[in-house]
Amino acid sequence: MILHLNHTRRDCAATTTGEVVNTVLALLEEKQLEPTQFARLRIYLDWLQYKQNFREPVTITWPAGNHNGSSAMEIRIDSRQVVPGSLREILQQGICAARLESEDVPGRVYLEEFKSFRNSIAWDFNRLYWQRLKDWENATGRKYEQALPGGKSDGHQIEAIAHSADEFWKLLKDLDSKNQLPAEVFILEIGVGMGTRAGLWLDKFCALDQERGTNYYPRLRFLLGDYSLTTLERSRPAVKQHIDLCSFIALDALDPIKTLSFLRHKILHVHSTNTYDNLPDEELVWRDNRIYWVQVRAYIPPPDAARIAEACGLEIKDMARTVNRLLEVGPECLPDKAKGMVFWMEVWKALRTEERLVNALDLPDVSYPAGLSAAQLEDILQSAPNDLRFHLSTGALESFRNTLPLLHPRGYLHVQDIFVTDLHEYSMGFHGPGKLDGSIVNWVNGALLREVAERAGYDLHFVPFQYRTGSKTSVLYTTRRE
Ligand SMILES: C[S@@+](CC[C@H](N)C(=O)[O-])C[C@H]1O[C@@H](n2cnc3c(N)ncnc32)[C@H](O)[C@@H]1O
Repeated sequence: MILHLNHTRRDCAATTTGEVVNTVLALLEEKQLEPTQFARLRIYLDWLQYKQNFREPVTITWPAGNHNGSSAMEIRIDSRQVVPGSLREILQQGICAARLESEDVPGRVYLEEFKSFRNSIAWDFNRLYWQRLKDWENATGRKYEQALPGGKSDGHQIEAIAHSADEFWKLLKDLDSKNQLPAEVFILEIGVGMGTRAGLWLDKFCALDQERGTNYYPRLRFLLGDYSLTTLERSRPAVKQHIDLCSFIALDALDPIKTLSFLRHKILHVHSTNTYDNLPDEELVWRDNRIYWVQVRAYIPPPDAARIAEACGLEIKDMARTVNRLLEVGPECLPDKAKGMVFWMEVWKALRTEERLVNALDLPDVSYPAGLSAAQLEDILQSAPNDLRFHLSTGALESFRNTLPLLHPRGYLHVQDIFVTDLHEYSMGFHGPGKLDGSIVNWVNGALLREVAERAGYDLHFVPFQYRTGSKTSVLYTTRRE
């Protein structure tokens, strides 16, 4: 058996590691675990930093199409969720379920077939959250920002915004001195939330411009981009002092050039905070020089299904259908909207994913993000540790690739977010997916982004965010290579 310790939380590891080994050895002694199973068993001990997530305390993963007691089994344990003393029973149940003929665990309400996480129904919940943010905030009585670590977005730190406005002013000044300043100066923010940063940035820039007597401010054309119409509407008050310079654009962060192709090579600055970590993502495993895809299947565990059905006056057999209805029409899926809200929030909280591993060779039609082929990825992974589970950050990679063509030759892209900048970090901690209120968060694979940028002719580097002590945010800077 191989035991992987995937976290560095000494306080949790001490008890759980010993308990895991003792429990597995006891199960082996009692012949509940076959020696052949034991010999091929891999156990991963994680510590999930997000209290709300998609994992039960113990997840058993099988190679696809190999679901029986004799094949290699992987057990992932969340040291944070496992209640001391409960491991034995959970493992026993998991091993018993593994002996069943069917892939379905009795009582679970399945919401989809196995697929890569990027295509999971979980992302429809994420979209619904941004579309119906007000309903969620009204029901919880708190704003979405309060769910963020520190209760505030790093995008709204005033010193960081002042620095950004000053940096941009310097670029304009330089272009001006070379007689290259365009008549219209385009700036784009992607994923604007309540527009707070856009408003503060414009305030700062306007003040600087006046102070320095340059009159650049009236040339600004500030584009606020988001895929949620509600969010765009709610961002208007934050920029009301600058409304004549602002345009509110419904766009998909995965493909900004599709909507803004008329601005190809024209935008001098693109900014985004906490949006890359909210774009569809999926996980891969690099093992013995092979890529495996982690496929997932969302379900509601039996006790939650029973509880939610009762609270919302539903039959369990109607739950999956009602979830689909919820994702189509929102909390009006039930005749009583308040109950529809309860249904939404409780299903989201209970939502878990089963996992299976599929060898990439068995998925000939699988698509890698634009700009990255399987061969390139294998090349990048040559220096990565063996048996590494990591994020592909597909949405972030696509967004990045489809934003670069918008940049003016002197333009730059700024992304403030949580990044993994070295692949080794994946074996030392959990990087998502987590749930933040009704949305999903994943750390972004910055190491891959850097590779893709370099191959596309751009320089990319990360700078730690210095404006809040303890912040996990970094700032990604990209410019076209000279
Ligand atoms: C976590 S919020 C961040 C908001 C703001 N930047 C902040 O830091 O407070 C993510 C924002 O991205 C938007 N968003 C998520 N996925 C998107 C997509 N695919 N296309 C465009 N906007 C998206 C959401 O509607 C939301 O406004």
